[in-house]
Amino acid sequence: MIHSIDYGRRQFLQYSALGAAAAMIPELLLANPKSASSVPTPGFKPDVEIEFSAREVLVPILNNGAETRVQKYFAKLLKGPENTVQSFEDSYLGPALSFVKGQKVRIYFYNNLYEPSIVHWHGMHVPQKSDGHPMYSIEPGERFVYEFEILNNAGSSFYHSHAHNLTGPQVYFGLAGLLKVTDENEKALGLPDGEYDRPLVIQDKQFNRNGQLQYVRGMRDRMIGFLGDTILVNGKPNAEFSVKTRAYRFRVLNGSNSRIYKLGWDDGTPLTAIGSAVSLLEKPETRPYIMLGPSERYDLWLDFSGRPVGSKLVLYSLPFSGAMPPMFERMQRMRGGGMGMMGGGLAQGEKFPIAIFNITEKVGDSPKLPAQLVSLKKLSESDVDNADNPLPIAITERHMRPLVNGRPFSLDEVMEIEKVKVGSIKKIKIFHPHEAHQEQGASGESHEMEGMNHGGEREGMGRMGDRGGGMGMMGGMMMAMAHPIHLHGQQFQVLSRKEGHVDRQDYETVRHGFIDVGWKDTVLVMPGEEIEIIKPFQDFKGLFLYHCHNLEHEDLGMMRNFYVH
Ligand code: C2O
Ligand code: CU
Ligand code: CU
Repeated sequence: MIHSIDYGRRQFLQYSALGAAAAMIPELLLANPKSASSVPTPGFKPDVEIEFSAREVLVPILNNGAETRVQKYFAKLLKGPENTVQSFEDSYLGPALSFVKGQKVRIYFYNNLYEPSIVHWHGMHVPQKSDGHPMYSIEPGERFVYEFEILNNAGSSFYHSHAHNLTGPQVYFGLAGLLKVTDENEKALGLPDGEYDRPLVIQDKQFNRNGQLQYVRGMRDRMIGFLGDTILVNGKPNAEFSVKTRAYRFRVLNGSNSRIYKLGWDDGTPLTAIGSAVSLLEKPETRPYIMLGPSERYDLWLDFSGRPVGSKLVLYSLPFSGAMPPMFERMQRMRGGGMGMMGGGLAQGEKFPIAIFNITEKVGDSPKLPAQLVSLKKLSESDVDNADNPLPIAITERHMRPLVNGRPFSLDEVMEIEKVKVGSIKKIKIFHPHEAHQEQGASGESHEMEGMNHGGEREGMGRMGDRGGGMGMMGGMMMAMAHPIHLHGQQFQVLSRKEGHVDRQDYETVRHGFIDVGWKDTVLVMPGEEIEIIKPFQDFKGLFLYHCHNLEHEDLGMMRNFYVH
């Protein structure tokens, strides 16, 4: 283990000192973001135009006749190829959108909800104005116009609400959908398509007796993240797929607010991914199981060749541990006794089936898994201009609120360490500043510590000593759990992942399931881990968010902006 406490300490001082210089960005304060974006730009000539809206509707989700009130996206294609919009009548999920690299897209978004909202195109490399930053949240009845060119390569992305302070509930009540990009390189590969290219959007919900969605806003649910007890796939419970004896491409998206899945077959067959978030991989990656944090996607190559007709395979979330604060995990294991609050009985890391694949038809042949997929430029330290001085994303907390870099979210405020020159490629270090508390109270540091205070505010939370290592003294409830860290704007690559001060047995349950290759936009950070990534900040200036994609954490303020200038 090369875990460097010194490094964290030095970095901590560096950015907390700079943190005091956090400043508003004058040019953003002057512009009225909304009025700037309610009319189309005359010079922008779209290939695709879509009328998009969000409204409350009743949808049958459970198979018991009940209709569930949801918030749902609707889309109408105004211009462009017919297959651009694929709507799901009987699901709360938004329509699947298919774009082609190079297309120019204009989307008119009408907010027909009873509360503010805005759509974010998660994984897409688009200008600030079209990224769905919460500062652009529009009121009911208002319109927002998005315009962007598809710069992404072929891959699977995800769009969802990013309403200011309301992202968690709005995504939970249905405001999410799948977004695909295709390109020439992908076509040349002859991957399974049409009926052999299927979505597999996984979400966990909780229904009350009347079949209505429950989203608990109690502090405990918000701190650890909301966990439902009913697993939905493509918006339906008890998912089953009829498949033929051949290969399929399943686009798996974790659209859950905070649940982490450990994807694996019941018969121990390993899983092969051909695409990560936002892009095809260089070559197929096979793992015994795959960890899938909130907002992560993998395109899986599922080959049913040779399986007897009439047989079935069950895709599970396999058991794992160490992703929750130890105290909560212990409580989760104790059933009954008021533990209903701990996520309705389906604990984080518990084993449960996700979907059943019924082999129903024998077919003669199947596409073969290509040995090579696409060529990707692998970024290394020599590509960055800050190899010795990475930008920090510290996982911190204060007053039992999870934070990044010690400060709560602000729509338009940035610290020095959050300013990045457009066109640069940066190394970023995501870490847990374990030892910060040791300096608490040292002279001259009280102000700096303010944003990073881990001491003296968790009386009653108890020590996390039995697993904590360096976390013992700090309490650090939120720091002792997994966080899916997501960065807006251009995708990144993982440079390194260093195991942290966690229980070895816990870590063994997840360690073989990370696919840290290719382009990503979210990385699941386990307690104590230190992860270095390389991210280009090219093409677009402005504010681009970085945040925890546990949506309850995001709404609690575990989110900040990079200011690309
Ligand atoms: Cu998927 Cu900022 O979000
Ligand atoms: Cu995003
Ligand atoms: Cu988090």
